[in-house]
Amino acid sequence: MNIVILAAGMGKRMNSALPKVLHPLAGRPLLAHVIATARQLSPTRLVVVVGHGAERVREAVGADDVAFALQAEQLGTGHAVTQALPLLDDSRPTLVLYGDVPLTEPATLRRLVAEAGAERFGILTVEMDDPTGYGRIVREGGDNTGSITRIVEQKDASAAQRAIREINTGIIMAPTGHLRRWLSTLRNDNAQGEYYLTDTVERAVADGVEVVSAQPGALWETLGVNSKVQLAELERIHQRNLAQRLLEAGVTLMDPARIDIRGELTCGRDVTIDVNCVFEGRVHLEDGAHVGANCVIRNSTVGAGAHLQPFCHFEDASVGAHGRIGPYARLRPGTVLGEDVHIGNFVEVKNSQIAAHSKANHLAYVGDATVGSRVNIGAGTITCNYDGANKHRTVIEDDVFIGSDSQLVAPVTVRRGATLGAGTTLTKDAPAGKLTLSRAKQMTLDGWQRPVKQAKK
Ligand code: UD1
Ligand code: CA
Repeated sequence: MNIVILAAGMGKRMNSALPKVLHPLAGRPLLAHVIATARQLSPTRLVVVVGHGAERVREAVGADDVAFALQAEQLGTGHAVTQALPLLDDSRPTLVLYGDVPLTEPATLRRLVAEAGAERFGILTVEMDDPTGYGRIVREGGDNTGSITRIVEQKDASAAQRAIREINTGIIMAPTGHLRRWLSTLRNDNAQGEYYLTDTVERAVADGVEVVSAQPGALWETLGVNSKVQLAELERIHQRNLAQRLLEAGVTLMDPARIDIRGELTCGRDVTIDVNCVFEGRVHLEDGAHVGANCVIRNSTVGAGAHLQPFCHFEDASVGAHGRIGPYARLRPGTVLGEDVHIGNFVEVKNSQIAAHSKANHLAYVGDATVGSRVNIGAGTITCNYDGANKHRTVIEDDVFIGSDSQLVAPVTVRRGATLGAGTTLTKDAPAGKLTLSRAKQMTLDGWQRPVKQAKK
């Protein structure tokens, strides 16, 4: 099929310089959600109609399989689809989606597609307690239960039509050749002075094309975003759905209302996630991992049985099996921790590999370092990796003990089994198995007396 996504509208009520369809939901533009859903239906042509902020929208969501049609002036939904016509294949039907309706499930669209087939006009409709603002589905018969005859917009509707609770979600499917003809006959002599896509329904009926409907699994699937209030509501619905899926897969969430997933979170068995964690990009938590409260984890992997205490912050990092991290640990890009590595409070690690059973438990900076196994990095240790112009590596071999408050001025190597005394500023390699320290000699002045405060004259 062809799929056309309408995304030209301005979104005045967003009160924002950003084009409406680029506002993020779960960390991705609204339109990116719709495109991802469209792709699941394997369309032969995928066309996005852009208008407001066209260039930005193209740049933000451009991909090889997406074509763009420009609607320079927003003259209505019918006019918008008309702009896409040159890019459509008449031998297949066309499904119309909205770029600001992000949560429609592929299964719902498949139902509509199956109902419509290649020959019928299909409309995704839903019953609303308060249908105000939506186009109403007008059906034959006094009780409005027969076949669909037309859609009437709120502003054009009579009082009796406004009482109809079945509404047009906006998502329709129609045979493309017919659609092309019907669209060419649209007029804008209506309450809004717009070319309504919905007027093609009457044309279909007049041509003897059957008009059918399908319904979504849930009402929220058809909700659109016109304001920040609605965006926030849809974000919560989406997050609730993602949390539900995790629970069903066996993940323990201390509170499913207090987790945010902005990307893809995958979990092994018996994973536990405490409250207020944010997962961004691709995150994988292996079997038995425990994530403490208030962690922010982006594009990272956490090994089996690892335990993250509260308030950790990871980006492009990997924690090995049975690691013990935090509270307040920061793992920056390029951090790869081996099995049973302990990273404690106020420790920052960047672009460093730390091998199994090593520990940096308090207040340290480990940057551009290669650290062996069973190394102990004392409190306050810093790798001085940056000379103001270039970065250099620090190598710490297996079984090293670094005394507290040491500075390792890179490039420098601490050989296997070496010990650095507390307070060492290491500027040359430390030999294996020996104690190295740089420290002013301690002295005591015997006759010294503490000054006393002089009496005022
Ligand atoms: C439309 C439907 C209405 C339906 C409602 C569901 C028509 C005439 N009405 O009404 O029956 O109940 O959606 O939300 O179709 N757009 C463009 N170019 C335009 C106009 C709109 O790209 O010239 C895009 C908008 O950005 C938006 C979508 O089409 O994504 C719907 O436009 P909107 O103005 O919200 O339609 P409604 O008037 O609400
Ligand atoms: Ca709307």
